[in-house]
Amino acid sequence: MSRLDGKTALITGAASGIGRASAERMASEGAAIMCADIDGDGAEQTALTIGQRGGKASFLALDVSSESEVKEAVEQTVRELGGLDILFNNAGVGGGDIGWDDTIAINLSGVYYGLFHGIPVMVERGGGAIINTASIAGLVGLTLGSISEDQPVEMVPGTGAYIAAKHGVVGLTKQFAVAFGAKGIRVNAIAPGYIETPMTEGIREVDGATEYLTSLHPLGRLGQPEEIAAVAAFLASDEASFINGIVLPVDGGYTAR
Ligand SMILES: NC(=O)c1ccc[n+]([C@@H]2O[C@H](COP(=O)([O-])OP(=O)(O)OC[C@H]3O[C@@H](n4cnc5c(N)ncnc54)[C@H](O)[C@@H]3O)[C@@H](O)[C@H]2O)c1
Repeated sequence: MSRLDGKTALITGAASGIGRASAERMASEGAAIMCADIDGDGAEQTALTIGQRGGKASFLALDVSSESEVKEAVEQTVRELGGLDILFNNAGVGGGDIGWDDTIAINLSGVYYGLFHGIPVMVERGGGAIINTASIAGLVGLTLGSISEDQPVEMVPGTGAYIAAKHGVVGLTKQFAVAFGAKGIRVNAIAPGYIETPMTEGIREVDGATEYLTSLHPLGRLGQPEEIAAVAAFLASDEASFINGIVLPVDGGYTAR
C-alpha cells in the first residue's frame, strides 16, 4: 500500500522542474495525476512518462492566470479522474523580463483561482490537501549581490512583483488553512531555495552566479526538483494529517541566517 493510493491530484506547472518531478513522485506513490501546464505538450510528456512507468496520468493545457481555465481544469480533473484530493498550485514564472502584471497574474492570482475553485470540490468530498509553491522570496527579500551590480535587484523588472506575489501566496496559504481546516482541508506551502530547474537556468549561466547563489545556502549547494517533490508528496499524504497552514522552507538553510 503506497501513501497516495486511491488519491487524485491536479498539479499545475507539471511540464517542467518542480511540477514535473512532483507529478512523477506522487504518481509513483499511487496517485492519479492531472498534469496541467500552459505548455500542453510538456504536460502531455509528463503524463506519458508516468504512464510508461505504470502510473495513471492525464494532461491538459492551462493558463493559471485565467480564472475560467482554472475552474475548467478542476472540473476536468473530477470528470476524468473521478475526484480531487490533492491540488498542487505550483505553476509560476520568474526572471527579469516578466513584468509586474504578468508575474502577479500567474504567481499570485493563479494560486488564488486554484484555492477558490478547488476547495468547494474538496469540501463536497469531505476533505483534501492543497500545497502552494511559495519561495524563500515569500519569506525574505532576495539579495543577488554581485550578480546584478549594474542594476540593483530591486530595479530588475519582475523582482519586486515576484517577492510580492510569493509573500501573497504565504498569506493565502494561512488564510485558507484557517478558513477551511474545519472542513478537513489542509492548506500548506513550500518555500524552496534556489533549485536547479529551467527557471533558474538564465541566472545560473551568469558568470560567477552559481558560486554566489551556492554560497547563500548553508548546505553548500543548490537544490534539486526531486527534493521539493518529496516534500510535496509528504504534505499531500495522510502522514501530514495534523499539518495545516505552514510554510515549509526547503532551502538548504538559506532562511536560517
Ligand atoms: N527554481 C527555483 O529556484 C524556485 C525557487 C522558489 C520557488 N520556485 C517556484 O517553483 C514553481 C515551479 O518553478 P520551477 O522552478 O519548476 O520552474 P520551471 O520553469 O521549470 O516550471 C514552471 C512551469 O510553470 C509553467 N507555467 C508558466 N506560466 C504558466 C501559466 N500561466 N499557467 C500554467 N503553467 C505555467 C511553465 O510552462 C513551466 O512548465 C514556481 O512557482 C516558482 O516560482 C522555484
